[in-house]
Amino acid sequence: MDNLSRGNIGAVKVLQDLFPEPGRLQFIYADLGDPKAVNKIFSENAFDAVMHFAAVAYVGESTLDPLKYYHNITSNTLVVLEAMAAHNVNTLIYSSTCATYGEPDKMPITEDTPQNPINPYGKAKKMAEDIILDFHKNSDMAVMILRLFQ
Ligand SMILES: NC(=O)c1ccc[n+]([C@@H]2O[C@H](COP(=O)([O-])OP(=O)(O)OC[C@H]3O[C@@H](n4cnc5c(N)ncnc54)[C@H](O)[C@@H]3O)[C@@H](O)[C@H]2O)c1
Repeated sequence: MDNLSRGNIGAVKVLQDLFPEPGRLQFIYADLGDPKAVNKIFSENAFDAVMHFAAVAYVGESTLDPLKYYHNITSNTLVVLEAMAAHNVNTLIYSSTCATYGEPDKMPITEDTPQNPINPYGKAKKMAEDIILDFHKNSDMAVMILRLFQ
């Protein structure tokens, strides 16, 4: 699922050509900021798991337009989690970022490094991580958070 705001349908078409079996690679054009659309997608499909990677992802842009980032990253993650909970989908892989670490005192960064993000992009992802982990504590949801470095 993608709203193609930054994505390229050509890449999906290449993959669909490689895996042409009916239903093997379904593409759904929708915006994660639209809870009704997201819930409809969950109602019409049977998902084993969600891999949530769809987001805006530029540090510089996030400082110029922070509300866009908190909405697109933090608020949309809440929409995804609520839809998963409502439809009993219990496995989530979430794409976070090394920007959640900010500027650590010690290198290299490890999973024990404190997360102190210094820009809206990193802060929005850290908030989304916190929401996911708080929900995970009192639910059956299995969660993996990837903090990607470029
Ligand atoms: N590429 C990296 O090095 C890197 C590093 C750290 C984190 N990440 C994270 O990985 C994920 C993917 O990054 P990428 O580099 O592949 O970016 P990308 O821009 O290539 O892919 C993100 C996709 O999300 C879609 N999207 C954005 N907002 C949407 C919305 N509201 N609804 C539906 N689709 C939406 C865009 O159209 C785009 O296709 C992001 O969450 C990003 O924060 C990537």
